[in-house]
Amino acid sequence: MLAVRVPKCEAEKTRRKLVELGVLAKGYAVKREGEFILFPVTEPVEGFELVEAEFKKLERRPHSYREVVEVPEGIKPLLPSSFDIIGDIAIIELPEELMEYGRAIGEAILKVHRHIKAVFAKGSKVEGEYRVRELIHLAGENRTETLHRENGIRLRLDVAKVYFSPRLATERMRVFETAQPGEVVFDMFAGVGPYAVLLAKKAKLVFAVDLNPWAIKYLEENVRLNKARNVVPILGDVRKVAGKVTADRVIMNLPKFADRFLREAMLSVKDGGVIHYYGFGPEEDLYSEHEAKIKAVARELGFKVEFLDERRVRPYAPRQFNIAIDFRVLK
Ligand SMILES: C[S@@+](CC[C@H](N)C(=O)[O-])C[C@H]1O[C@@H](n2cnc3c(N)ncnc32)[C@H](O)[C@@H]1O
Repeated sequence: MLAVRVPKCEAEKTRRKLVELGVLAKGYAVKREGEFILFPVTEPVEGFELVEAEFKKLERRPHSYREVVEVPEGIKPLLPSSFDIIGDIAIIELPEELMEYGRAIGEAILKVHRHIKAVFAKGSKVEGEYRVRELIHLAGENRTETLHRENGIRLRLDVAKVYFSPRLATERMRVFETAQPGEVVFDMFAGVGPYAVLLAKKAKLVFAVDLNPWAIKYLEENVRLNKARNVVPILGDVRKVAGKVTADRVIMNLPKFADRFLREAMLSVKDGGVIHYYGFGPEEDLYSEHEAKIKAVARELGFKVEFLDERRVRPYAPRQFNIAIDFRVLK
């Protein structure tokens, strides 16, 4: 094919010029010839030495595991277009019909995403007080502990033993951005600490509670890893701690049951403090039910609430959303 031949020292300048002119042929490796570099071009270019040469075609790396997975054609439309990545572990949700091809799907993910070392399928919904799910090993290392990076912090965790969702990273950053320096924060359902360790960068003190001993073990490790010395990990039921702290900001990241802990949250926030409440709501009316519960608990306690912000955090199920409500408590 047609090529432009230039001395090595002019290679980069020439490459830029050819890209600018839109004549650099895509999908080929440039070629070295002694002290010269040859660029494949789609048409003659004025001002350059033109030669004829053969070029090696570059292999296009697949972007998705769906391009390389070996499953029958008929079921390909069922392949999920996305999956969660926590550290170097991938967790995919497969419909029943795809479970028998789990290994092939796992292998394809490993092939395309070189940084992923283990692939698991979701084996159940998030369940129980600890909010964990069963996982089914599909391919790669049979290991569930990993190191995840998010919002500039490092979190060690075991995906089989604790709750963790990388899909909440943006929401956590949003809460971080609304926080003020020097606050006392009360993270009621802390898990391995993605809120607590992040907020510790601004806060004076963060009380971080969880019922799951594994979550607290990893939280303690993450406090060390990130030198977040102002985080106080507390193992136990948050009901025993609530009311004993007075916080500027309370985080209630237990969307399934947060409404049951509103009393504890309001008793733990100072006058004028803010609560970040999470829940699930149907698309047609995301917030009303939660607002009503918040107002009812405030009334019972003789407090007032001021709603500051309401938002969808992420889709949860068909026509259901994980929602957030930020409100101020006036005592
Ligand atoms: C949805 S997870 C959220 C974890 C963490 N905030 C995150 O963003 O990854 C809820 C956490 O609350 C903990 N939990 C549930 N009930 C609790 C209770 N009564 N007291 C303290 N922690 C509780 C669970 O063990 C779980 O780790």
